[in-house]
Amino acid sequence: MIYKYLYGNPFDTEAVTSEVPLAEGALPFGSVDTEDGFCFTFIMEENDIVYGLGESNRGINKRGYCYVSDCSDDPNHTEDKRSLYAAHNFILISGNRNFGLFFDYPSVITFDIGYTRMDTLQVTCGSADLNLYVIEGGSAPDIVKQFRRIIGRSYIPPKFAFGFGQSRWGYKTEKDFLDVAEGYRCRHIPLDMIYMDIDYMDSYKDFTLNEDFNDFPEFVRKMKENHIQMIPIIDAGVKIEKGYDVYEEGVKNRYFCQREDGSDFVAAVWPGDTHFPDMLNEDARKWFGDKYRFLTDQGIEGFWNDMNEPAIFYSSEGLEEAKELARRFAEEENTVHVWEMGGKLQSLANSHEDYRRFYHNVNGERIRHDRVHNLFGYYMTRAAGEAFERIDPNRRFLMFSRSSYIGMHRYGGIWTGDNKSWWSHLLLNLKMMPSLNMCGFLYTGADLGGFGADTTRDLLLRFLALGVFTPLMRNHSALGTRQQECYQFENTEDFRHVIGVRYRLIPYLYSEYMKAALNDDMYFRPLAFVYPDDRTARRIEDQLMLGNEIMIAPVYEQNADGRFVYLPEEMKLIKFLPDGTIFEEILAKGIHRIDVALNEIALFIRSGKCIPVADAAECVDSIDYGTIRMYGYEGAEYTLYNDDGIHKDYDNKENYTVLRK
Ligand code: GLC
Repeated sequence: MIYKYLYGNPFDTEAVTSEVPLAEGALPFGSVDTEDGFCFTFIMEENDIVYGLGESNRGINKRGYCYVSDCSDDPNHTEDKRSLYAAHNFILISGNRNFGLFFDYPSVITFDIGYTRMDTLQVTCGSADLNLYVIEGGSAPDIVKQFRRIIGRSYIPPKFAFGFGQSRWGYKTEKDFLDVAEGYRCRHIPLDMIYMDIDYMDSYKDFTLNEDFNDFPEFVRKMKENHIQMIPIIDAGVKIEKGYDVYEEGVKNRYFCQREDGSDFVAAVWPGDTHFPDMLNEDARKWFGDKYRFLTDQGIEGFWNDMNEPAIFYSSEGLEEAKELARRFAEEENTVHVWEMGGKLQSLANSHEDYRRFYHNVNGERIRHDRVHNLFGYYMTRAAGEAFERIDPNRRFLMFSRSSYIGMHRYGGIWTGDNKSWWSHLLLNLKMMPSLNMCGFLYTGADLGGFGADTTRDLLLRFLALGVFTPLMRNHSALGTRQQECYQFENTEDFRHVIGVRYRLIPYLYSEYMKAALNDDMYFRPLAFVYPDDRTARRIEDQLMLGNEIMIAPVYEQNADGRFVYLPEEMKLIKFLPDGTIFEEILAKGIHRIDVALNEIALFIRSGKCIPVADAAECVDSIDYGTIRMYGYEGAEYTLYNDDGIHKDYDNKENYTVLRK
């Protein structure tokens, strides 16, 4: 059962796509106070677990901390952070009673989940203008499914997007990209995508190419002939530059976000001063989306959208204030402290003051940005998604974004932003996965190896061993960090093998992804969703169920040669060994110490189930389904999903085949 409670005059985010009947009177759970802003309060029972919040910090169980939905470009994901890039305002309370809550509110909203008082859940926001959806159900998975149904089908990428991708901030010329392709192909390490970060553009101008690309369509074609898709980045800010068509058109048609006085708002991002296309304005959105044709017309089939919180390094106003302070700092002795000066400079980026300096035009109504801040990334990706529908309604494009809000899951996936080459981030990224799935985001993954800071060979291998299972599997790193392509390290055959296991598992992973997407289901689940009555399973946060057949338990500590794993039922361990063979062993319910070397991948098949495993391949196109062998329990059946991976022919019964072990 789903009820919708309406408070005040909410902004229509279009997160929910189904009609949900309006409820009146008191909520079935907790209480609401609208005296001063909005405040929802619920007293939790000791054993209640709180799930949800999608891309957010800390654990799968969100209890014990305070989270703030406030899309932020913050590359330091330390344990104390309350906001990351996304706003996924869905939580699920699971205990003696199970219910879900979706706070459809596009500005700052705080989830105090037993932080101020250990037994109290309190959700607060500045204005009492929102839709609150309350979902009742018999179990946690049932509530997620009901929620997913009202927010619409999750985005489905083309099949090549299940391959492995290499990225790095700094690749600039054709040669840089060819070197990466060669680095992988000559060592036979599988690869399907190379990502193009901002340097492929001319002066960081969206929808341009730098002078090194003489014949881009030919370059893209040649790469595709080698089974490599080129995936360019698109940033939110449009460079201010006379004569640059995107800038000129945006100014002329009033498509950029404006200040109160009607002038175009100026924010500095990578290109220097930019304007933000008004993604919430339908005409501007259509215009911006159609710009992607510049690249699709040249053969490009996938993109990543970035800096769309939107990230602001500083605004013109902010810079002026800092300069004025600097003048006083320099000229008027002892009036401005060094720390005040430093603080001012540091607070220029992503300042809430700037969010109050510009407006959107939504169907003729002016809406100040801070009121709808968390929608910007969603609507940028929607701009692209709607354009892809116009370009070819039956074709799938790869698309994922950094910033997001629930609703964006229909148009693209997300990556989890600028993590670091830290072991703790491997575990953090694992924990985010089921929470993201609850909120509709299925095509997700982290920067494998870590984006910021220097990786190590063992960290990259362990990160990849998690990435083998995440729908988005991409190695990405920041400018200035240690070279992180797999071929930069010794014994590249280990990388060939680990990534090769991904390709051996694609028949299974793709099937489970498609089943999850087509049935509003989860691809990754916490163990508690499958074994709700198992007290130990309910608290496990470093193992995940993947699809309907397997459990994974990645190693996330340096120098470990294995780990303890809890099996909530008898399972069959299968381990992909570096010589290409597969070790199998049935293990009883309980705790086991499992050896997993750096070059091995282990997974656990649930009792009575089986999975398809193909031979390794160097790209998705060359996976030979004829080589599939079934692993798991004798007599088990598996429903394989396969299609051409390009078109949207999802409802065709021929996509399904039953395989037997
Ligand atoms: C942002 C992105 C990162 C990208 C960089 C340069 O930090 O999150 O992935 O490499 O910008 O474009």
